[in-house]
Amino acid sequence: MATLTTSSKPAWMISSDDVLSHEQTDAHISAMGCALMRHIESLKPAPNRLFLDPYAKLFLSEAHLREYRALDEKTYRQNSWLVWLGALREKFFDDCLTQAIQNDIRQLVIPGAGYDTRALRIQKLKDREILVFEVDQAFMIEGKRRQLLDHLHTIPAHLRLVSMDFHRDEFAPLLNSGYGMGRKSLFIAQALSYYLAPFAFEKILQFFAVNQHPESRFLFDYVDVITMEQMGGGSYWDNLNGNRPFSIDPDVLEEYVSQFGLKAVLNEPMTTIEKKYTGEATLPVDGWYMAECELA
Ligand SMILES: C[S@@+](CC[C@H](N)C(=O)[O-])C[C@H]1O[C@@H](n2cnc3c(N)ncnc32)[C@H](O)[C@@H]1O
Repeated sequence: MATLTTSSKPAWMISSDDVLSHEQTDAHISAMGCALMRHIESLKPAPNRLFLDPYAKLFLSEAHLREYRALDEKTYRQNSWLVWLGALREKFFDDCLTQAIQNDIRQLVIPGAGYDTRALRIQKLKDREILVFEVDQAFMIEGKRRQLLDHLHTIPAHLRLVSMDFHRDEFAPLLNSGYGMGRKSLFIAQALSYYLAPFAFEKILQFFAVNQHPESRFLFDYVDVITMEQMGGGSYWDNLNGNRPFSIDPDVLEEYVSQFGLKAVLNEPMTTIEKKYTGEATLPVDGWYMAECELA
């Protein structure tokens, strides 16, 4: 998989006693990569950018930013399609969220939230007292809590930070944080499916499907089987004990989600999303998909 950085020291690491395991370092770097994509898009002049995320840089270490600034033109060009894909994905899911807010969702769940900043930058979530549940592994959640307190001196009241490992845990931590069964919800599993073993991703789909408000929606991106093989999983696959991460052939997605009582209302390649925003399709991958499901 294309990587943007080799810097592994999180911005929130304040104590020299903090040492991340190999697995934790990979999770942190992947989340920091997404924050970097948001930061780079935000540096563009207003008329040219898809969105502004003034908070993305809070999660980037100085070393990480220096490394990005020092990238030579060639290295950047080789990796830039991934940065662009990340920006398009963020924008598309932001637009879906805006629509969901208009449709009166009461809660937003972000599995594998990493350094997601929607709770901070989408003011209507706060104004309408929509609860935002950011779910991630305990060390990521604690790092994020530290970083938010450090910079904002508070955790916004509508934001719930939930520690949960989808490979090991059940959903009690989410339920105990105030998640309401049957409440109209939006789930955004962004840049997550390809880091999970299939059973763990399915666990989230199953949880979503049970006792859900009929107008709730589940958004995620995924890569097809061929693209997954081409990207290779690097050390992430080792972290999954040899399991291949989730990937699926787009032609069978409909049938696949139906086993959880869901129907796919959107299943489009990223190139189609790119065309929607820019009128052209320049991304060099055609096996990266955006999907949206609702109750069947
Ligand atoms: C590529 S990052 C995406 C972060 C965020 N969704 C975004 O788009 O900025 C993947 C995230 O999934 C989380 N993750 C990976 N495996 C997980 C697991 N087993 N349980 C919970 N979170 C997991 C990682 O910690 C990381 O924050």
